[in-house]
Amino acid sequence: MGKRRNSLALCELATLFLVQILVLAAGQSTNASSWKTLNGKPPVVIARGGFSGTFPDSSSAAYSFALIASSSDTILWCDIQLTKDGVPICLPSITLDNCTSIGDIYPKGKKQYDVNGVITAGWFAVDYNSSELSQVSLRQPIWSRTEKFDGTQAILSVTDLTTQVKPSSLWLNMQYPTFYEQRGHNLRNYTISLIKQVIINYISSPEEEFLKGIGTRISPKTKLIFRFPSEYLTDPSTNKTYDSLKDNLTYIKTFASGILVPKGYIWPVSSDNYLMDHTSLVTDAHKAGLEVYAADFANDNLFSYNYSYDPLAEYLQFIDKGDFSVDGVLSDYPITPAEAIGTENWSLFLFYCTGNPLIISHNGASGDYPDCTDLGYQKAVDDGADVIDCTVQVVTKDGVLICMSSVDLIHSTNAAQSQFSSLSSTIPVLQTSAGIFTFNLTWNEISQSLKPMISSPESQFYISRNPRNMNAGKFLKLSDFLAFSKGKDIGVLLILEDVAFIQERLGFDMISLVTTTLTEAGYGNQTSLQVNVLSPDSAVLAKLRQDSKYKLIYKISTKIRDASTASVADIKRFADAVAIDKYSVYPVDLNYITNMTNVLHRFQSAGLKVYGYGFMNEFVSQAWDFFADATVELNTYYQGAGIDGFITDFPATARRYKRSQCFNAGNNTPAYFEPVQVGGLIELIVAPAQPPALAPLPVLNASDVLEAPLPPASVETPKNASGPSTQPSQPSQPSHTSRTVTSISLLVFLLPAIVLLV
Ligand SMILES: *[C@@H]1O[C@H](CO)[C@@H](O)[C@H](O)[C@H]1NC(C)=O
Ligand SMILES: *[C@@H]1O[C@H](CO)[C@@H](O)[C@H](O)[C@H]1NC(C)=O
Ligand SMILES: *[C@@H]1O[C@H](CO)[C@@H](O)[C@H](O)[C@H]1NC(C)=O
Ligand SMILES: *[C@@H]1O[C@H](CO)[C@@H](O)[C@H](O)[C@H]1NC(C)=O
Ligand SMILES: *[C@@H]1O[C@H](CO)[C@@H](O)[C@H](O)[C@H]1NC(C)=O
Ligand SMILES: *[C@@H]1O[C@H](CO)[C@@H](O)[C@H](O)[C@H]1NC(C)=O
Ligand SMILES: *[C@@H]1O[C@H](CO)[C@@H](O)[C@H](O)[C@H]1NC(C)=O
Ligand SMILES: *[C@@H]1O[C@H](CO)[C@@H](O)[C@H](O)[C@H]1NC(C)=O
Ligand SMILES: *[C@@H]1O[C@H](CO)[C@@H](O)[C@H](O)[C@H]1NC(C)=O
Ligand SMILES: *[C@@H]1O[C@H](CO)[C@@H](O)[C@H](O)[C@H]1NC(C)=O
Ligand SMILES: *[C@@H]1O[C@H](CO)[C@@H](O)[C@H](O)[C@H]1NC(C)=O
Ligand SMILES: *[C@@H]1O[C@H](CO)[C@@H](O)[C@H](O)[C@H]1NC(C)=O
Repeated sequence: MGKRRNSLALCELATLFLVQILVLAAGQSTNASSWKTLNGKPPVVIARGGFSGTFPDSSSAAYSFALIASSSDTILWCDIQLTKDGVPICLPSITLDNCTSIGDIYPKGKKQYDVNGVITAGWFAVDYNSSELSQVSLRQPIWSRTEKFDGTQAILSVTDLTTQVKPSSLWLNMQYPTFYEQRGHNLRNYTISLIKQVIINYISSPEEEFLKGIGTRISPKTKLIFRFPSEYLTDPSTNKTYDSLKDNLTYIKTFASGILVPKGYIWPVSSDNYLMDHTSLVTDAHKAGLEVYAADFANDNLFSYNYSYDPLAEYLQFIDKGDFSVDGVLSDYPITPAEAIGTENWSLFLFYCTGNPLIISHNGASGDYPDCTDLGYQKAVDDGADVIDCTVQVVTKDGVLICMSSVDLIHSTNAAQSQFSSLSSTIPVLQTSAGIFTFNLTWNEISQSLKPMISSPESQFYISRNPRNMNAGKFLKLSDFLAFSKGKDIGVLLILEDVAFIQERLGFDMISLVTTTLTEAGYGNQTSLQVNVLSPDSAVLAKLRQDSKYKLIYKISTKIRDASTASVADIKRFADAVAIDKYSVYPVDLNYITNMTNVLHRFQSAGLKVYGYGFMNEFVSQAWDFFADATVELNTYYQGAGIDGFITDFPATARRYKRSQCFNAGNNTPAYFEPVQVGGLIELIVAPAQPPALAPLPVLNASDVLEAPLPPASVETPKNASGPSTQPSQPSQPSHTSRTVTSISLLVFLLPAIVLLV
């Protein structure tokens, strides 16, 4: 085709993207009998339009990157369209409106054609010759993907693809033979002449007559695959319904060596998007001697809730679960199936491993169950968390400590819609908006009358978590939580927030309440049961450092780019570890990673462990650089940055990742397990589309770390955490930052008031 405008060269891509590219021929030494594919070899990865999740579909960049990021034997898929002068080109749809700039270049070119019985309006490749189309650039047609690479990539012909990208394996999909025949182009003849020029490994089509027509003219090295687009359609070449063909696999075997089906043919989903039992399609097809390829995989699809927003889990379902494996998967994000195949391979050898990275749950397995519920904690344990967490809140009226992700019940319960909605109040030191606070209710009221409510951190993108678990589970007292975790060979993390407020305004000696509860639960001062305490308040940790031997984690609540020597030295005095926002390691601009900061190194070289918080599976929570794949993100933070642990809503994903890291492949690490190159993607954006530079993140300094000593508690700690009610003290003005009275004098001052109230 004509000159490429501004397009990315393969060599640029190769040097800019992954740090090290190591080619590992997948399946070289795999135990063949362990894969339930037709030929016993690992399933293949087919990149639909290249790495079309990131770069415009069917572009040179997308194709090149698929080979770099996943593996060099990834099969490149090209959807064939024909130009007016009969050149086969790669474009994902028959109309060019969404996937190219054609509407801007030829504004009057809109036409209307009958495409397999459906009147379709738009710009069609058959109306333009190849030199006209060389003026047109490719675009990202899917709204949820980055459009920053639009306009930089030219339309490729099949021969461009093979000469520029040099795939080791090529798959051509001929979706519309009948349509092109009606426009005067015999796709069969084009295909036969194409086969003489380039090696084609797979040809797929939904049209039986087309496959039969070329069957006699191709070498046996080219596999013919019959494609099922959807059960409700009919094959325009025969008028048979796809539904009826699905039940006639032995017949398909007479003209094809495999089938390509929508993934729902194998693992159907219910109307509310849960996985149902698998069909017998793969087993039946294998019996008939047909290979089965599954289509429609994309990490940024809203796939079944059973996968907990983890795209890798979906691939594993198709290659691992049950007694079959598909023979290949068609993906817009080919790195993820490559990981799945590698992970699956390794998991045959490894079961459980300890050490780094540490997996700490965030409000239990809060991606699957409501925050801080019994079911969420059980799931976190089952999923392989090393540490489960409880954010400790106090229920004033009876002095009970409970686990609740927020002091404001509106966030994790149905309080706003309950009889307690009238208890809403505004407490500016806690939050600016009105809330229904734990300390305004009794434990009985919370446990009996409120329902847990699953968190929804990405609701602005209309992404919700497991609706069937919307209100599942029960809340726990801290003592219940500790009883649950004991004897489970799992660490606990207690999170103490708002301690100054609680001590001063509510009158509870939070720290001694917590340590007493720990001691009563058998988590005294010993080290065999690991207890971690996290707080954003250095005064809380400083106090605990004196009174206990618990592992102390200082939470840095803001995003930072560095920390001053003095601040690190201060933290070192009262903490063993820090918890930092994940964006403090890899800051982003318009969601592209711009750089790697020095924060991890700064703390680690002072002997502090560093745990990152903010890890979630939903792709919208990740930088573009991670390809909508939580595992790529975890891997980059661990292998690339050296983080010591993850605080995550989805411990299952982190555990699977950790297991894959137990097997240290060293120099044989496959490309898909290399960390992404920092800033690699943003550098590829050409100037006009570059995001404006942002002001750098602040540097943590000593005054940020220093907190005034804790205010004294005004109420005596109840002996038994579930014991008799204790009245809260009269509220006083919060004075956490300017305090002069000592704890003793304040107690003396308040004692008469307490006595009077009782
Ligand atoms: C599977 O694991 C074996 C043994 O560790 C390794 O040699 C082989 O390369 C792996 N195959 C894949 C596809 O990752
Ligand atoms: C391959 O796996 C089978 C069972 O899964 C086992 O019996 C056989 O010994 C394995 N072969 C090799 C070479 O590891
Ligand atoms: C093109 O985009 C529009 C608007 O997003 C959508 O309605 C239409 O279905 C798309 N067409 C194709 C062929 O993808
Ligand atoms: C392509 O179309 C343009 C405009 O219609 C025409 O000028 C040109 O000669 C055509 N090129 C070929 C190779 O047919
Ligand atoms: C296709 O090729 C065959 C011979 O291989 C020829 O007879 C036929 O006319 C060609 N059809 C078209 C539309 O070019
Ligand atoms: C399929 O049906 C359509 C409409 O009924 C008809 O025009 C066409 O010729 C049929 N095609 C075949 C291959 O039978
Ligand atoms: C399978 O398809 C062939 C060809 O259309 C037909 O002759 C045969 O009856 C079909 N078999 C079944 C079981 O539908
Ligand atoms: C998917 O999840 C639902 C709800 O948890 C469960 O009932 C169903 O069995 C799961 N499906 C599969 C195939 O595991
Ligand atoms: C909730 O408790 C706080 C602190 O004791 C108190 O100031 C506030 O008035 C209470 N709110 C309601 C609605 O009872
Ligand atoms: C825990 O250990 C510290 C330091 O050894 C000691 O001061 C404190 O009294 C102990 N606390 C308990 C509850 O045993
Ligand atoms: C990137 O981070 C390093 C520290 O890790 C810093 O020295 C450098 O200035 C940063 N570069 C940019 C462009 O912000
Ligand atoms: C410390 O940083 C804060 C903002 O993070 C800033 O307001 C303050 O002036 C800094 N203090 C010193 C001593 O640099």
